[in-house]
Amino acid sequence: MLAFDPPQLDLALDTALARLAPLQARADTNAYRLLDDEAGGLTLDRYDADWVLSLLADVDPHDPRSATAAVALGTRVAAQVGARLDARAVWLKVRPRQANTLVHAQLAGLTPPEPVFGLRSPEPLTIRENGIRFGVRLGDGLATGLYLDQRGNRRWLRDNAQDLRVLNTFSYTCAFSVASAVGGARRTVSLDAAQAALTQARANFLLNGLTDAKQHDLIRGDVLAWLPKMARRGDRFDLVVLDPPSYALVDGKRFQAARDYPTLLAAALGVLVPGGRVLACINHAGVDARRFQQLLADGLRLAQRSALAERVMARQMDFPAGRMKAILLEVG
Ligand SMILES: C[S@@+](CC[C@H](N)C(=O)[O-])C[C@H]1O[C@@H](n2cnc3c(N)ncnc32)[C@H](O)[C@@H]1O
Repeated sequence: MLAFDPPQLDLALDTALARLAPLQARADTNAYRLLDDEAGGLTLDRYDADWVLSLLADVDPHDPRSATAAVALGTRVAAQVGARLDARAVWLKVRPRQANTLVHAQLAGLTPPEPVFGLRSPEPLTIRENGIRFGVRLGDGLATGLYLDQRGNRRWLRDNAQDLRVLNTFSYTCAFSVASAVGGARRTVSLDAAQAALTQARANFLLNGLTDAKQHDLIRGDVLAWLPKMARRGDRFDLVVLDPPSYALVDGKRFQAARDYPTLLAAALGVLVPGGRVLACINHAGVDARRFQQLLADGLRLAQRSALAERVMARQMDFPAGRMKAILLEVG
């Protein structure tokens, strides 16, 4: 279990506030990470005047008292953070260290649906990122609706998608698609298995005045089934975004990014025009940048395509741990 040392936490907050002063000064962005101590088990994210505190904790699935103790500790940390940052609300997410095993965070009461400090605002809450608006739900399980570590890549899409046909796979709430659309993409197609995510996605388009549902298509389905289908029927894209979860189970089939990325990339290349680009991301502690490059090289070989250029996307200043890696491939 995480040790809670109030003076040390105050010091960490002061240091982070000083280091991220440029980010806080920006009028066009009010969502970012303040503390990124994944190793120590604590992260703190800002969404406008609300904050999300995540704690990694050992939770024994056979002993409900361990969940209660973790939430009690998180509530004490949240009270200190909330007072120090003058927060409207602090939401708590306790992440079981043994993710993917027996503990379902929401069911075990580890992600309280109400803030543990301050007051709830009407949901979804709208935040700004590089001038783009996104809706988030902070009391809805472990995810919020927006992955803050992708801000830099969304900005890149906004700045580079003019006139392109963009396919966003594992699109979740379509933050990449919206960024591309704001940047002038001719067409976006977004694919995800979860209807709830796509419902928020449509709301995100509308929040930014993007009302043409034909130009910005949402498809509910399995990416691994849809990519070959799209390839066969001749759908083609100038840019494909790949940002799969580390693990997923869809239609009884298990996907593991660290193992299946080559097959996924090869399938995506079936819909990419020659000279098109793939923005490939992975968020996996066990896959470093080198290993990720190897996985991509294997995918290119499988598809018998070659990289014309490869660029490792920069790490964000608010995510110094750099767990998420992104590589932009231009493919011949
Ligand atoms: C980590 S999120 C992706 C985040 C997203 N790229 C973003 O930037 O907001 C994972 C998403 O993948 C979806 N998903 C997982 N496996 C899938 C599959 N085989 N086909 C389609 N969607 C899938 C989930 O529903 C979830 O919305």
